[in-house]
Amino acid sequence: MRFLSKDWVVSWALLLLVSCTTFSSASLGKPENKIKTSVFLSPKIELGPGLVSNKNYFDVDFPRGHIAIKSFNAELVDEAGKSVPLQEVYLHHWVIVRYHQPKNVSQNNQTDNIVIVRNSGFCQDGFLVQYFGLGSETRGTATDIPDPFGIEVGNPSEIPYGFEEKWLINVHAIDTRGGVEDRLGCIECRCDLYNVTKDADGNPLSPYYKGGLDCCPDNSTCRLNKGFKGPKRTLNLKYTVKWFSWDNCVVPLKIYILDVTDVLNVSKGVSPKHNCKVEYQVEPCSKGYNSSACIDVRKTSFPMQTGGYVIYGVGHQHVGANESTLYGQDGGVICSSIPKYGNGNEAGNEKGYVVGMSTCYPRRGTIKIKDGETLTLEIIYSNNQSHSGVMGLFYILVAEQLPHQHLL
Ligand SMILES: *[C@@H]1O[C@H](CO)[C@@H](O)[C@H](O)[C@H]1NC(C)=O
Ligand SMILES: *[C@@H]1O[C@H](CO)[C@@H](O)[C@H](O)[C@H]1NC(C)=O
Ligand SMILES: *[C@@H]1O[C@H](CO)[C@@H](O)[C@H](O)[C@H]1NC(C)=O
Ligand SMILES: *[C@@H]1O[C@H](CO)[C@@H](O)[C@H](O)[C@H]1NC(C)=O
Ligand SMILES: *[C@@H]1O[C@H](CO)[C@@H](O)[C@H](O)[C@H]1NC(C)=O
Ligand SMILES: *[C@@H]1O[C@H](CO)[C@@H](O)[C@H](O)[C@H]1NC(C)=O
Ligand SMILES: *[C@@H]1O[C@H](CO)[C@@H](O)[C@H](O)[C@H]1NC(C)=O
Ligand SMILES: *[C@@H]1O[C@H](CO)[C@@H](O)[C@H](O)[C@H]1NC(C)=O
Repeated sequence: MRFLSKDWVVSWALLLLVSCTTFSSASLGKPENKIKTSVFLSPKIELGPGLVSNKNYFDVDFPRGHIAIKSFNAELVDEAGKSVPLQEVYLHHWVIVRYHQPKNVSQNNQTDNIVIVRNSGFCQDGFLVQYFGLGSETRGTATDIPDPFGIEVGNPSEIPYGFEEKWLINVHAIDTRGGVEDRLGCIECRCDLYNVTKDADGNPLSPYYKGGLDCCPDNSTCRLNKGFKGPKRTLNLKYTVKWFSWDNCVVPLKIYILDVTDVLNVSKGVSPKHNCKVEYQVEPCSKGYNSSACIDVRKTSFPMQTGGYVIYGVGHQHVGANESTLYGQDGGVICSSIPKYGNGNEAGNEKGYVVGMSTCYPRRGTIKIKDGETLTLEIIYSNNQSHSGVMGLFYILVAEQLPHQHLL
């Protein structure tokens, strides 16, 4: 009999001991009363026809103190604060990274002694360390975290002595107004359109590298129609954080960002290493091929040392996306996330762009990843034409414990 189980008694005993101010009103149906919404603007982003901006902004505005984050959204806005449609400026991605830095660093060296606090995902070498991040789909993708869960940040006991917690935003935007010769090519960072042949360190790019982030670095220009001139413009990333002050009744979530290009390199004598390429190339299916079968399927597997309950899931893909699905070891679907394409001109519904990804909010306690379970990520793109620089990421939020019985 569940009602008489020891757990139940223990959780009621705990309820009497711990004051759960945040959710004491949950039973009254108004837990959202305490959620605060903060809206911030990134520093100015200067663009012009065909121009790329891919910059890091250190120590950006963010809610301070020990808090639970409940959602994070972002979009590009113009000087009047108006939403900018993707046809005008493509938001390739934005990511926000949590870091710690000594309090006494000189004001003019923002990169001094930074210690990044990464998410729980597996990629190494500094890839995909962000807490939050999306791309063109940002306006149409839900990011709310249900009660009583939250992402814990700013806990003083996790900040080393003498350090403070800060946030950096990286924004990658491509101005594709009017004059660009090939809009899809520009947003897929095709090397021939950017006339880029070397990477950031000056090393020549492989001739097999057709496109991706190496070919649309900061300040590069995508090829314009001959003689095209257009005005410069100034934008900001407007980002909205929902949060409330930390409370012992909030159940913390772990963020995992999984990458379909992740390859676990196991070699003798060294510890296994996750190599993530983040981007890849989708080759076109051959001509005359049954076109309804023109799909590119990638799969990779991740052993999860520590499991937990999946509270939220979403995929991240680019144009050409068909579906992304995360499977458990038994082959059951943990979460499937499907792109939504726009069919108009207005911001949030731009024709031909991925303007949203469907999300998963499994009923509490129903989707459990076991400790040691191997997950498989499957990313599907349409390949009736080639695509360069595509991504296949999957974000999941995992609770290692469930709330006490009375909150279920
Ligand atoms: C900051 O403090 C640390 C020790 O707390 C010290 O080693 C370092 O030199 C200081 N840096 C500056 C710029 O004052
Ligand atoms: C800033 O700090 C970083 C890391 O400590 C160092 O590599 C870099 O040279 C510094 N830059 C300046 C301008 O002092
Ligand atoms: C492309 O780059 C090469 C060498 O960097 C330069 O000579 C050439 O003029 C550039 N082409 C265009 C169209 O910008
Ligand atoms: C791009 O141009 C800006 C302004 O001239 C400069 O501050 C920035 O360092 C440049 N970015 C790169 C990667 O060179
Ligand atoms: C795997 O790791 C070994 C040893 O560190 C290295 O020599 C090899 O290049 C790596 N392989 C890949 C595919 O990265
Ligand atoms: C193409 O493939 C689909 C599914 O694989 C099949 O249902 C369809 O009959 C095929 N069409 C042709 C013309 O072969
Ligand atoms: C994914 O591909 C299937 C099969 O070709 C198709 O029926 C479906 O509409 C596609 N979904 C999206 C979002 O493109
Ligand atoms: C490829 O498929 C997408 C959606 O499945 C469609 O919108 C597009 O027109 C197709 N492109 C070509 C070249 O057939």
